[in-house]
Amino acid sequence: MYTQSLLQVLFVAVCLENTIALHPIVINTWPFVNATDAAWNALTVQRVKAVDAVVAGCSRCERQRCDGTVGYGGSPDEHGETTLDAMIMDGVTHDVGSVGGLRRVKDAIAVAKAVMQYTTHTLLVGDLATEFAQSMNFEISNLSTPQTAKRHERWVENNCQPNFRRNVRPDPTTSCGPYSPADRISYKFYGGNRRTSASRTNHDTIGMVVIDNDGDIAAGTSTNGLTWKVPGRVGDSPIAGAGSYADNEVGGAAATGDGDVMMRFLPSFLAVEEMRRGASPTEAARTAIGRITRHYPNFSGALIAVNKDGETGASCSRYRNFPYSVRNGTLGETKVIRVNCL
Ligand SMILES: *[C@@H]1O[C@H](CO)[C@@H](O)[C@H](O)[C@H]1NC(C)=O
Ligand SMILES: *[C@@H]1O[C@H](CO)[C@@H](O)[C@H](O)[C@H]1NC(C)=O
Ligand SMILES: *[C@@H]1O[C@H](CO)[C@@H](O)[C@H](O)[C@H]1NC(C)=O
Ligand SMILES: *[C@@H]1O[C@H](CO)[C@@H](O)[C@H](O)[C@H]1NC(C)=O
Repeated sequence: MYTQSLLQVLFVAVCLENTIALHPIVINTWPFVNATDAAWNALTVQRVKAVDAVVAGCSRCERQRCDGTVGYGGSPDEHGETTLDAMIMDGVTHDVGSVGGLRRVKDAIAVAKAVMQYTTHTLLVGDLATEFAQSMNFEISNLSTPQTAKRHERWVENNCQPNFRRNVRPDPTTSCGPYSPADRISYKFYGGNRRTSASRTNHDTIGMVVIDNDGDIAAGTSTNGLTWKVPGRVGDSPIAGAGSYADNEVGGAAATGDGDVMMRFLPSFLAVEEMRRGASPTEAARTAIGRITRHYPNFSGALIAVNKDGETGASCSRYRNFPYSVRNGTLGETKVIRVNCL
């Protein structure tokens, strides 16, 4: 009798232990440990939901300008301006808010959350996204810094090299713009629609997936895009299924890398669908990256994934030992895990 109830107590204890250990969990691209910790603290101290934890984590990166590739004062475009792309997705409702080419507002992922919370739209862009942000009481400021102004000056002195133009006059490999189409006949034929070149500059993004205390999942991204991009360029980060994706029945995924290529393959959506079919997060990430490298062998990028059981995985192409950050109940602190690329 005594033994039996002791066993029962032990059994309950083991079950509780498991429930506690599976979630919450935070994963994000790169060793952006401060962002992981910010999301973790939001979950465990303030006990916020997954969406708000993702916003807390990515906002930390925006303010601390992780690697100079997230937030203000990084990745100036051809005009020397920094613009921001971000998205947030709620895996419970499939609600998404995002901003592309956001100007003069530092808090890109919080504005994306406002798009989700205060409108029935998904994506706002450019100056009009700024106007929306202002109406929602976000502060307007200058995203340039003396450093980006100086870098831009040197880039112009170096004949605007490198850049992302092709098939234009003057020769974009030796000259600055303004550029116009090199081939007038095909320009007329196609009515002016031309695709821009694939990227060749290294590019980082924070992508994050969170499972909260209730087991609910959210994903998000934030970036300042590619350095020397054509003004107006928006990458994969604010596109649902490309930059990130979350589905409460399955898990979530987020991507970083050459966004111009990645957004043609919806790798975050593909990874989640692979996990739905029973793949492990690592297998799912490999499938999503492999789909891209089959068409673009020189593509550089990475993807992280987590399933509902809290198992994580990642894959990459042309990064050296791609690192991602993980925090869960069994790890006393954020752990940086490195994976070999395909
Ligand atoms: C927490 O993360 C570590 C490192 O990825 C992993 O070994 C462990 O199994 C995870 N714990 C749970 C409960 O998922
Ligand atoms: C992490 O946050 C601490 C405290 O705010 C700060 O001192 C440190 O520079 C941050 N690390 C990075 C890499 O930004
Ligand atoms: C923004 O800051 C940069 C760098 O400090 C400066 O060159 C630029 O004139 C500023 N722009 C505005 C509109 O104040
Ligand atoms: C890939 O890169 C190699 C070496 O930089 C180059 O020779 C090759 O043409 C590239 N392939 C494609 C498909 O761009």
